[in-house]
Amino acid sequence: MSSVVRAGVIGYGSIGRTVANRLLAGALTGVELVAIVDTGVVANSTVPQTDLAKAIEICDVLIECAGQAVVFEHAEAVLGAGRDLVISSTGALADPDFITRLRKLPGRMLCTTGAVGGLDLLGAASDAARFDTVTVQTTKLPTSLVQPWMSDQRSAQIVETVSALTVFEGGAEEASRLFPRSLNVATAVSLAVSDRDLVQVKPVADPSAALTRHEVTARGPVGNYHFTIENLPSPENPRTSAIVPFAVLRTLGVLLGHHGVIG
Ligand SMILES: NC(=O)c1ccc[n+]([C@@H]2O[C@H](COP(=O)([O-])OP(=O)(O)OC[C@H]3O[C@@H](n4cnc5c(N)ncnc54)[C@H](O)[C@@H]3O)[C@@H](O)[C@H]2O)c1
Repeated sequence: MSSVVRAGVIGYGSIGRTVANRLLAGALTGVELVAIVDTGVVANSTVPQTDLAKAIEICDVLIECAGQAVVFEHAEAVLGAGRDLVISSTGALADPDFITRLRKLPGRMLCTTGAVGGLDLLGAASDAARFDTVTVQTTKLPTSLVQPWMSDQRSAQIVETVSALTVFEGGAEEASRLFPRSLNVATAVSLAVSDRDLVQVKPVADPSAALTRHEVTARGPVGNYHFTIENLPSPENPRTSAIVPFAVLRTLGVLLGHHGVIG
């Protein structure tokens, strides 16, 4: 790798646009943004829009900000070509066979902490001993939890609820499959504790939820942990929290050795 790291952003939406603009403004010294990949037309960018094959050719690192499907379809090509990959759509890694395949490829892969925190502590505690219980309760505006596979009746019930309504209760793998854009946090927690079967997930639709709230509770032999995280939504995409592009940039910084988890 040359001293300048050439980066490409896949997905120029609410996360990708902020990531791209921050990189162009010099957020990470020595990182040059050279490609933007999007299925839509990328307007008002000084960086060339390319297809993914070209981006793999000219970039050292690709930053996925496009959705789970892009990770499923393209992560192997990126990592197989020896390029590094920062992943926003962490839920794509809920499938253990998929992540095992990706880990065997030459490129390095790092998921962003995204909308959640405390993963370092949970990881350290789970290295010491398996947690007894881990739960993630995510409370969002009802429209953010409606999914295409839901019946019209169920969608209407969620959208029209006047009080907090539990939409699902189950494991992290199933949760990230059923709510691909909304429960990346659940997979992030299950990756942190290295135990996808342990993490129980409860998305709650709440019409009064001006902020998206994640309550992570873990109990085990070395301690009990409870984090409440409240994020403002992105002004461009209410399903995404405004913090996420900044978490993505930090993850890129960690991958490139610019900074550690702290400092
Ligand atoms: N880790 C987290 O905490 C967290 C939080 C929020 C969102 N996310 C993930 O980030 C993803 C992006 O979020 P966003 O708010 O920026 O979404 P967005 O809809 O605002 O932007 C997504 C962009 O990706 C593009 N895109 C879609 N399919 C593509 C493809 N095959 N190739 C190239 N570009 C493609 C779209 O055209 C769009 O411009 C979400 O789908 C979600 O999976 C993760």
